[in-house]
Amino acid sequence: MRTISMPEDESDGAIEARLAEQEYFRPPTRFVGQANETDPAVYDRFEENYPEAYAEWADLLEWDSRWDTVLDDSNPPFYEWFKGGTLNASVNAIDRHLPERKDQTALLWEGEPGDTERIAYQDLYRRVNEMAAVYQEVGVREDDIVTLHLPMVPALPISMLSAARIGAPHSAVFGGFSAQALADRIDDADSDVVVTIDGYYRRGEFLDHKAKADEALELAETDVETVLLFKREDELHPDVEITSDDPYVLVDEVLEQKQGARVDPVERDAEDPLFLMYTSGTTGQPKGTQHRTGGYLAHATATSKYVLDIEPEDTYWCSADIGWITGHSYIVYGPLSLGTTSVMYEGAPDAPDKGRIWEIAEKYDVDIFHTSPTAVRMFMEWGEEIPAQYDFDFRHMTTVGEPIQPEAWLWYYEHIGGGDAVIVDTWWQTETGGHLITNLPALKDMKPGSAGHPVPGIKPAVYDDQGHPIEKGSARAGNLVIERPWPGMLQTVYGNDERFIDEYWREFSETDSDDPADWVYKAGDGAVQADDGYFRILGRLDDVMNVAGHRLGTMELESAVAEVEAVANAAVAGREDPQKGTVPDVYVTLRDGYEESEAVRAEIVASIEDQIGKFARPANVWLVEELPQTRSGKIMRRLLEDISNDEELGNTTTLRDPSVPERIREHIDH
Ligand code: PRX
Repeated sequence: MRTISMPEDESDGAIEARLAEQEYFRPPTRFVGQANETDPAVYDRFEENYPEAYAEWADLLEWDSRWDTVLDDSNPPFYEWFKGGTLNASVNAIDRHLPERKDQTALLWEGEPGDTERIAYQDLYRRVNEMAAVYQEVGVREDDIVTLHLPMVPALPISMLSAARIGAPHSAVFGGFSAQALADRIDDADSDVVVTIDGYYRRGEFLDHKAKADEALELAETDVETVLLFKREDELHPDVEITSDDPYVLVDEVLEQKQGARVDPVERDAEDPLFLMYTSGTTGQPKGTQHRTGGYLAHATATSKYVLDIEPEDTYWCSADIGWITGHSYIVYGPLSLGTTSVMYEGAPDAPDKGRIWEIAEKYDVDIFHTSPTAVRMFMEWGEEIPAQYDFDFRHMTTVGEPIQPEAWLWYYEHIGGGDAVIVDTWWQTETGGHLITNLPALKDMKPGSAGHPVPGIKPAVYDDQGHPIEKGSARAGNLVIERPWPGMLQTVYGNDERFIDEYWREFSETDSDDPADWVYKAGDGAVQADDGYFRILGRLDDVMNVAGHRLGTMELESAVAEVEAVANAAVAGREDPQKGTVPDVYVTLRDGYEESEAVRAEIVASIEDQIGKFARPANVWLVEELPQTRSGKIMRRLLEDISNDEELGNTTTLRDPSVPERIREHIDH
């Protein structure tokens, strides 16, 4: 695993010495004393009573009618959770808290320019009802899929919860995705209602967001009937134009007629889908991960309570974007179902300066803080003097999305947690809905660099490529798999059960068997399990890259590059990066008649930005004479990865021309 280089000063030595002598860190006593789960028997209880013990999770929710069966596993891998139960997610996130905490802040939003909104549970109830009425007004019915393309503004969670209220699954597309990416997702979900906003602020600049929807409407094959347009400010931004023949509807105008509207929550079957979340896989087309209502909500809520240790009285801040799964589960559904105060921040962490995050933490007296290793590495590079200027005190901190190097972990522990906050490193995926491997923080010691133990009832294992389990403590890495179903798991890939089986199950399951014991979920990650049972996650084994915690498919990037006319052949390799974890390097050969030039490079970068989004921009575009290809014409990305990372070349004997990698290396060294 890559390590982070630290500045050569005294603290460097101190951190290294501490890591060398201390493998485990005990959870602070002040944390343990108040934790939501302090009974060590919970692990055995779930193990001995699987799957029935998960009723404890579902019991954290309010059900319209109770389930008959906790898990129906008669048709693997199409498992059904809390079968026969009915509920509504918006009731669980809002209505049920009103008797006790209607005046408590549900969402605490901070805009980048410094404007703020405190939305109490009662306000959220009103706004979600009114927005649900807006959906109804424009013809959204139960089971219609609503596409949301919104930045980090209150309109996003409100649009999600009001869709959930009327039983319309939402498909939130991260605001940073391009028009083309939005159009692809609209088409795949055949979604004819889109929700967007005129714009938002990023590093002091107002970004025109509606332009992406305009373009997506042109690009999509689906006939989008309505685009609901929010406004970032009181007035529509002067640069944003609406003409009479386009499908835009100003949300505020409809809301005005819907003031005080009440919309009865639709009673949803536990197995009815709550949302889709598109994510990158090993092919060019992103997959619509489909999540059910009951199992998903139970999983997000229970892990928010027992792993994130959220109490209703807490102020909790997860700095992820709601447009990704982390924000769905751990800004919106989990925390609000527990009736807590969840903070949302619109902008960049360094706007107007590098103290912004800690200023917000101080201002709102945040108790629980949740971020990514990429952010921790960035804070670390900015220096510990910055957080030291602010007065905040976290009880609990989380990392998610990537492996965290022990050095970064320790820096987070000392300089952000002050040495007395507990840290959980949470491993999970868009597909898993909620945490699968992470410690229950009062019950297990922290071990920097390891995600930790499985969540109660979860059964991960490490398999070799032949599907044989690798014993823990053998120090051998392998494929991370999950050997039995869990409540938050995806139901399927939207509209494509075959792909669901192919991507996640086929490799390690007996797919013609009806016995659930023969079905094993492949996570796509490499992992190693130590003697003490702790899992260390090593990163993706498939053609998926983790760039600053954003998941990108190699194939998606390559197809964007291939759109450029000058390009003959393209391959993308991950380069390790001290801050972002991995960044994409693009290797390209040009067609006859095209010359290497800055213009071609710029066109390739622009194509990636157009097809996916600016966040996918490559670190380097190398124009080379030839790519390493096997005799059968397969490009060996692995060798390109060796070149990008300046490592010794792996086996080159199967190459048509074994001298190609060295020639590429020489070419890019010059
Ligand atoms: O490679 C693993 C990495 O992120 C992938 C899932 O990405 P995504 O679906 O976008 O969800 C991100 C938020 C859960 C995984 O396959 N990953 C996630 N958490 C960790 C991690 N790698 C190491 N340690 C983690 N804690």
